[in-house]
Amino acid sequence: MPKDKTKVKKCLFPAAGYGTRFLPATKAIPKEMLPVLTKPLLQYGVEEAISADIDTIAIVTGRGKRAIEDHFDISYELEHQIKGTSKEHYLTEIKDVIEKCTFSYTRQMEMKGLGHAILTGETLIGDEPFAVILADDLCDNNGESVICQMTKLFEEYKCSIVAVEEIPPQDSNKYGVIAGEAEENGVIRVSDMVEKPDPKDAPSNLAIIGRYILTPDIFDILRETKPGKGGEIQITDALLAQAKKGRVIAYKFKGKRFDCGSVDGFVEATNYFYNKSKD
Ligand code: UTP
Repeated sequence: MPKDKTKVKKCLFPAAGYGTRFLPATKAIPKEMLPVLTKPLLQYGVEEAISADIDTIAIVTGRGKRAIEDHFDISYELEHQIKGTSKEHYLTEIKDVIEKCTFSYTRQMEMKGLGHAILTGETLIGDEPFAVILADDLCDNNGESVICQMTKLFEEYKCSIVAVEEIPPQDSNKYGVIAGEAEENGVIRVSDMVEKPDPKDAPSNLAIIGRYILTPDIFDILRETKPGKGGEIQITDALLAQAKKGRVIAYKFKGKRFDCGSVDGFVEATNYFYNKSKD
């Protein structure tokens, strides 16, 4: 049966980075496994993908990241130990996630940047549109999840989509920043994109956060993309090339985002989810 190329069924999680901002915690534990309350960042990301009806999870890992595979696997001994006790419910959510999805993994052997990590995931994605979630950007809202908002938008636009939010101008050197023309409800057609510009060179105050929908031609573009800012292969550069050839849109998502790759963002997220759990 031919694939329906308007539906996003797979989600890629690049999770091979070193997480240097969280050393020494990330020396032996993947950054994506750091918990906000009792749940690792990556599990929040997978649950977000499930909320958008995505059931095929592809994870790009690296050396020292085995805990990720173990987390999304059955743990017979532990389950046997707590079966029938008052603690059994602690595993309900993760068991549900494991049941709903299939997981596949590939390793990025050299950490040459986010663009390179996404290209490494090509073997797991193939020739179809896919979502990308950076689990260290933790998103939350009371309605539709951010990736669900984006997969719906994809059905309408059928082109790559980046999620953006307004940032204080002085923070532009931490993000990819876009410029473009506003179309309708929060949608902007991208005309320019710059990776981590100095505030004086930033084309706007709209920064790309860790949610993307990509069309599979991005892989060929990434293969041709030269190392950019920081000597890394940047997805921002590949997306600008794609925007110039055709169309890429930016979407001002509804919801809250926490940069859990930074200590400040992580603490903020922890407080937010703690307060939410008490409500
Ligand atoms: P970051 O820019 O946050 O880098 O990557 P990092 O290495 O994880 O963290 P710091 O800056 O050293 O503290 C953004 C996302 O891209 C992935 C990371 O795992 C993270 O989810 N990534 C980055 C890769 O998978 N491979 C890379 O080569 C670079």
